[in-house]
Amino acid sequence: MEVERVQAVASLSMLMDTIPSEFIRSEHERPGTTTFHGPVPELPAIDLSDQDQDNLVRLITKASEEFGIFQVVNHGIPVDIINKLQKVGREFFELPQEEKEAYATPPGAGHLEGYGTKLQKEIEGKKAWVDHLFNNIGPPSSINYNFWPKNPPSYRFDFLLIDFSHYQSQLRILTKTLSSCREANEEFAKCLRGVVDKLLMNLSLGLGLEGNELKEAVGGDGLEYLLKINHYPTCPRPDLALGLVAHTDMPAITVLVPNDVPGLQVFKDEHWFEAKYIPNALIIHIGDQIEILSNGKYKSVLHRTTVNKEKVRMSWPVFCSPPGEQVIGPLPQLVSDDNPAKYKTKKYKDYLYCKINKLPQ
Ligand code: SIN
Ligand code: FE2
Repeated sequence: MEVERVQAVASLSMLMDTIPSEFIRSEHERPGTTTFHGPVPELPAIDLSDQDQDNLVRLITKASEEFGIFQVVNHGIPVDIINKLQKVGREFFELPQEEKEAYATPPGAGHLEGYGTKLQKEIEGKKAWVDHLFNNIGPPSSINYNFWPKNPPSYRFDFLLIDFSHYQSQLRILTKTLSSCREANEEFAKCLRGVVDKLLMNLSLGLGLEGNELKEAVGGDGLEYLLKINHYPTCPRPDLALGLVAHTDMPAITVLVPNDVPGLQVFKDEHWFEAKYIPNALIIHIGDQIEILSNGKYKSVLHRTTVNKEKVRMSWPVFCSPPGEQVIGPLPQLVSDDNPAKYKTKKYKDYLYCKINKLPQ
């Protein structure tokens, strides 16, 4: 059965200036009426190059306790690597539909990888105004290049030296190399690991632990990196639809690159407020697993996304998750008679199963 993509729904909706009823949110979810426009808190911005280690720990700890989300600047990922990641993502969603469908997640695949649209309807049968592409980008054993777009290819010049005995001539040969997507994802993934390690180290120190303890607790070098590209097409009624419904992220931590179109909203102090991001900053979400491991000291942030009438919004979250077999629970070092465990201890895959199937944790 052919899946209806939101990109196609959006093209028709823009022409008709209306959206199908399954995208119209009920009153209590509509961004038009539930977005707070009063004085809103700013998303904490943290300079990751700060040489004052104690200060960095203090700022990251505070943001993770109070917001569960913050942005980092001077994170060390070069702007051109981020631009390249965004360019290949944009180009993928601009491909003709049949080319995108070649990367569709097969029905019943049992994994998320590939191009897709959320099939499950949400509470009240509503649908999200977004299509996506999921790719595992690490560790190497998790990567399946079949789901990495091959187009557009990237080119390299090779030089062939020909010796005609009296003179030498160079023949330039244009060689098709890796796809630009592969190049972009791999360069980004390489830099990202450093950022994630640094964040986990600071979060670990903020719990009063050794710097490496939190990383070990989420699987050490077995930590899995899943890149998602969210593509939110233009929408004639952004006041009525949602990109992503309110949720917390399941993994340990999410590192997100947005494009320049606003739309990420955070729930804090009983209000939904628009997150304003600094150009080239990375947005860090504390996920459920860090909340559990920290026994509730750090908060997994409740967030949702809105869409835009004039511009396509895109985002590139990377979900960093423990391997399925990793046992997750409040770290024993943090639990005491005065601070009893607030969460169960079980395998990550069991936490995942309960969340996906909306069962009690
Ligand atoms: C997400 O929650 O996965 C994406 C958030 C965003 O698009 O900013
Ligand atoms: Fe999310």
